[in-house]
Amino acid sequence: MPHNLTFHDKITTIERHFLDEQKAHPEATGELTQILYDLALAGKMIASKTIQAGLADILGATGSRNVQGETVQKLDQFADETIFRLNDHTGRLACMASEEQDELIPIPEKYPKGRYVLLYDPLDGSSNIDVNVSVGSIFAIYRRKTPEGTPGTLEDCLQPGRKLVAAGYVIYGSSTMLVYTTGNGVHGFTLNRMLGEFLLSHPNIKMPAKPKYYSVNQAYEPYWSPGVLQYVRWLQTGENNLSLRYIGSLVADFHRNLLAGGLFCYPADRKDPKKPGGKLRLLYEAAPLAFIAEQAGGYATNGHSGILDLEPTKLHQRVPLFIGDKKLAEKAEEYIAKFDK
Ligand code: AHG
Repeated sequence: MPHNLTFHDKITTIERHFLDEQKAHPEATGELTQILYDLALAGKMIASKTIQAGLADILGATGSRNVQGETVQKLDQFADETIFRLNDHTGRLACMASEEQDELIPIPEKYPKGRYVLLYDPLDGSSNIDVNVSVGSIFAIYRRKTPEGTPGTLEDCLQPGRKLVAAGYVIYGSSTMLVYTTGNGVHGFTLNRMLGEFLLSHPNIKMPAKPKYYSVNQAYEPYWSPGVLQYVRWLQTGENNLSLRYIGSLVADFHRNLLAGGLFCYPADRKDPKKPGGKLRLLYEAAPLAFIAEQAGGYATNGHSGILDLEPTKLHQRVPLFIGDKKLAEKAEEYIAKFDK
């Protein structure tokens, strides 16, 4: 079978794409490009581990020793460490923060401190790995607020999503994809395993005008507020003609809805009094995905206001999240304003 690609077709590697984007900003120093490139490399390294996940049982379970006598690391710890180690010494970051770590992660003293801040969820949905369901890494990059050359502080991390300079995710699914935005559209790359390269496969992604899916954990219905309940009832009506899809792996649910059209919800609920604001984290999950959603023509809200406008007060702050199709997400705000006083 002849393939469709001819020598006249442009093959865009992620490196070429980043460099093209950089050229559009003559003031750019190339540092952001390099951070993105390091994150793409981290994505490749994590992907190479996730495809071997089931083999852990054969080679030695987590916490025990494998055949070489080395300790087998949990995948989420591996992902966390990989992202940190690829970025700690480059002189491009002021500090980092990870969903896996309670406190801000300083750049080691021996390395220079840079102009950017990296927040990341190294392996979101990691409980799904054991059952071979797609998982993902999410990243968010801000410009620091404190003076250059000094160690980054909490003030650098606690910025609203509107200040994001770049955000993206890597999804480890039937193929590995990296999707990102720097505010100039959303672009998706698929990892060609033979070449070890991310190739541009989804330029300038826009959410479809007609949504197909809604995604919510319907089992929490007894714990929802009247506004959320009425809203989900409305989603289910014939006028919307939606199907329900819920994987329980945020990156995978978001990615499907981004490409096929739909809305993902993780509302606040009364199930766990310790988590009154829902389960998902503003800085590591909601804000970066909200930036991508808006760039693709969608919207993200906590039910009252846009996720990108929320001012974070702590690193691990949780938020209710309605994200994806713009009209459907705006409708959540209407219902919540009407029924929840
Ligand atoms: P974890 O990383 O602990 O597996 O959590 C996954 C997150 C997110 O990816 C997903 O959208 C959500 O939890 C699902 O939570 P529920 O099981 O409560 O629906």
